[in-house]
Amino acid sequence: MRLHHVVAAQDFNRGMLEELFDSAHAMEHVVADGGNKLLDGQIMASLFYEESTRTRFSFETAMLRLGGSVISTENARQFSSVSKGETLEDTIRIMNGYCDVIVMRHYESGAAHRAAHVSRVPIVNAGDGTGQHPTQALLDLYTIQKELGRLDNLTIAVVGDLANGRTVRSLCYLLAKYRAIRIHMVAPEVVAMRDDIKEYLTRHDVPYREETDLAAIAAEVDVVYQTRIQKERFGDRAEDYDAARGVYIVDRDLLSVMRPDAIVMHPLPRVDEITTDVDVDPRAAYFRQAQNGVYIRMSLLAACLGRDLERPPALSSAGSSWSDRS
Ligand code: CP
Repeated sequence: MRLHHVVAAQDFNRGMLEELFDSAHAMEHVVADGGNKLLDGQIMASLFYEESTRTRFSFETAMLRLGGSVISTENARQFSSVSKGETLEDTIRIMNGYCDVIVMRHYESGAAHRAAHVSRVPIVNAGDGTGQHPTQALLDLYTIQKELGRLDNLTIAVVGDLANGRTVRSLCYLLAKYRAIRIHMVAPEVVAMRDDIKEYLTRHDVPYREETDLAAIAAEVDVVYQTRIQKERFGDRAEDYDAARGVYIVDRDLLSVMRPDAIVMHPLPRVDEITTDVDVDPRAAYFRQAQNGVYIRMSLLAACLGRDLERPPALSSAGSSWSDRS
């Protein structure tokens, strides 16, 4: 698979997803073998205008595991020339001369589209405001596939900040590619799912229901996908934040209602919406989910840079750390 820009989840089709997940599975072996040189000579720029732990570090880890190099700014608002008034478009044009792929997180919805419009090198959307977070949704699906062994015939409860949660928005776009998907939307009213996603699900014949009682539906779901109420998106609407926070908590009481084969996911970070005593339950999949980000992002980088594990580039020196998977 060759990818150019990775901007929106709905740009992927089922065939691409299957190929990506096969590749991610192979990448797990690459990591276990200590990495390889698939992306030797390639440079990834991580250009982050918003905070990140998982996305930035897992992309950088992915690049390093594949023998590539990384240039990085973790606070581009302050430490890039945007602070002097440079436009995003000009920054991207300049970065095109310095790197082979740009992984970008921005605070504005639509920023990744703007960047892709002027970029010769692949742009990977690592989250754009309240827009999308497609690589998170890809690792979320990969996690469901690994944990439950299927992607069709799923009942999933998406919970929390559905209005601002870009991860859950991208996940809905991807779930719509599969058969017999049922979605329960469980959100405080002030952060209910926006109409664009509901209309998309309707157009793609995905049944969804808006619910208020998480415990009442917990027994019938395969996945509880919890999300954080995103304080940073509320601006001066402190009352709305207070109304939304703490309404839906995943705790041991909720686990006691859930089926033994169901899982709890969360894109993380969490604040208090999953109690820490849930972590020891085998159904708590969120730390495994975060680890899967490395494998998916290794696959995405390889696909963006036109490198294939089955057809690695010719290596120039003997004794390289390329792992022979034959
Ligand atoms: N899931 C996620 O995007 O986490 P970070 O904000 O830490 O990257």
